[in-house]
Amino acid sequence: MNILEKVRKNIQVLKPYSSARDEFSGTARVLLDANENAFGSAEKGNWNRYPDPYQRLLKEKISVIKNVSVEQIFLGNGSDEAIDLFIRAFCEPGQDSIVLHEPTYGMFRVAADIHDITVKSFLLNDDFSLIAEKALKAVDETTKIIIICSPNNPSANAFDHEQILKVVKNFDGIVMVDEAYIDFCPEKSILHQLNNYENLVVINTFSKAWGLAGLRLGMAFAHSEIIKVLNKIKYPYNISDVTKQLAINAIERIEVMHSMVESILRQREKLVNALSQISIVKEVFHSDTNFLLVRFEKTQELFKYLRDHGIIVRDRSKQPLCEGCLRITVGTSQENELLITAIKDFNHNKNR
Ligand SMILES: Cc1ncc(COP(=O)(O)O)c(C=O)c1O
Repeated sequence: MNILEKVRKNIQVLKPYSSARDEFSGTARVLLDANENAFGSAEKGNWNRYPDPYQRLLKEKISVIKNVSVEQIFLGNGSDEAIDLFIRAFCEPGQDSIVLHEPTYGMFRVAADIHDITVKSFLLNDDFSLIAEKALKAVDETTKIIIICSPNNPSANAFDHEQILKVVKNFDGIVMVDEAYIDFCPEKSILHQLNNYENLVVINTFSKAWGLAGLRLGMAFAHSEIIKVLNKIKYPYNISDVTKQLAINAIERIEVMHSMVESILRQREKLVNALSQISIVKEVFHSDTNFLLVRFEKTQELFKYLRDHGIIVRDRSKQPLCEGCLRITVGTSQENELLITAIKDFNHNKNR
């Protein structure tokens, strides 16, 4: 398979916008090519200049920690941008389809809907495991992308590599594996397979373990030819210099992220133990992430009770296979204690 043949025809022939910083990216004595403000700005620093459209410095740092080449990296305004661009690049509006499992992260469907792309979905097993055959069965000749979210939001589990690779090997199109939560279970990443399959795409983000959701920085790792396609259709300067600099700082202090992950995993374990002892808790599902999917009795009443007490969790009870379930992000020790106390109080009041 030549994966580039799967790119939409108009994108294959598209002549991209060539920005000033595309045409000249070195250092020069006088830069009068981009209609920037040569006098500077109210802020100290080079903010008057457009950023590098390809974020080379930041990609070099990411390439080291992820063990991929710079050419295999795309950076987006959140991973949502990368997901959107893949759909734009590969799916013909009003004609093509994507396949995804249910339940999963809601933006996949919205991104497809925005581009008038049909969504074909299949159910995970009751224990939220993935069966490759189900994904492959949902595919037809219009399907251009299969999206697998591992670890999955909202079920919190990572899928078996064997099943994911079966999908990758047997599908004649892009398989996008969204690993937004992978820093909480790095041993479950499929990224090391990137060089073996030209149709494999892996998505990561700085929004979760790195603690930089406010920055909006997502990553896509893929074959360098695919990355070239994304670069062709992205906004020219999609990542700001502020984002780039703060992300570089975070990578240079990667031990901070690792220690936060350790703390979150410790808190997660405590939360699981505490929840398991409360009688309205029917099931705490296994988590490979920084959140828990928990099945309760009297879910709606509990949800409202928590909200009325200033504790906001996510109601996932309408999602397939998630009846009675709330999704709870692991917080600080203090936040988790407030949550547990509130659930216990609710439970106590109900049992009186
Ligand atoms: C599975 C998954 N992918 C992607 C995202 C979005 O990440 P970003 O903040 O990088 O756009 C989320 C956010 O909750 C998510 O759960």
